[in-house]
Amino acid sequence: MSRDEIREIADIVGDDKAYSHFVKRINKEFDLSDEERNSKVYVIFQENKKGERIGFVVIGHSPAKMKVWGQTFKEEGWVKNDFQMDPDPFELMYMYVKPELRGEGYSNKLFEKVLAFTKDKGIREIYAYVSDRSPAALNFYKKKKANIIQDFSDEDLSTAFLSWQL
Ligand SMILES: CC(C)(COP(=O)(O)OP(=O)(O)OC[C@H]1O[C@@H](n2cnc3c(N)ncnc32)[C@H](O)[C@@H]1OP(=O)(O)O)[C@@H](O)C(=O)NCCC(=O)NCCS
Repeated sequence: MSRDEIREIADIVGDDKAYSHFVKRINKEFDLSDEERNSKVYVIFQENKKGERIGFVVIGHSPAKMKVWGQTFKEEGWVKNDFQMDPDPFELMYMYVKPELRGEGYSNKLFEKVLAFTKDKGIREIYAYVSDRSPAALNFYKKKKANIIQDFSDEDLSTAFLSWQL
């Protein structure tokens, strides 16, 4: 992930206040990480029919975080005792499509790219934590056949740990 890519992400989110926190968090993560860490985080963009960038996914290696997640899944009893996380899975960190273009299938295309990119890198598992006031993302991930490791959703928040085995 580069500064230029973060600028493009900020342009895509624009003045969508509900997700301005994505841009803030991505900037913070970038600033707090060293060059090596940032080189292991990737941005995949989605274009509209005119070739303009209208969506993105941030995905990458988060080895320390994934180790903690794996241990937590076991300790909390959310996975079977023989659960083994791949040594270096991807974390799907952020996914976003411009509000006025949602429901047009762009996320389907974007997610296809994510799977192809992940396979191409020889990665066999993706993990994600989703927590959002809108159920759109969790519904979308369910449609994409995510394994639901634990679902904490209530009427205010759709929250879950998810994974995909490729
Ligand atoms: C989640 C999000 C990326 C989906 O984007 P989208 O472009 O509207 O999705 P698509 O039009 O490609 O739809 C893909 C599939 O998901 C389904 N889907 C999308 N939004 C849905 C919703 N709100 N409820 C139920 N299903 C939904 C669609 O019906 C479609 O299914 P189909 O292929 O069987 O027809 C988009 O709503 C978004 O950017 N949300 C804000 C950011 C966010 O929540 N990110 C995730 C947290 S990291």
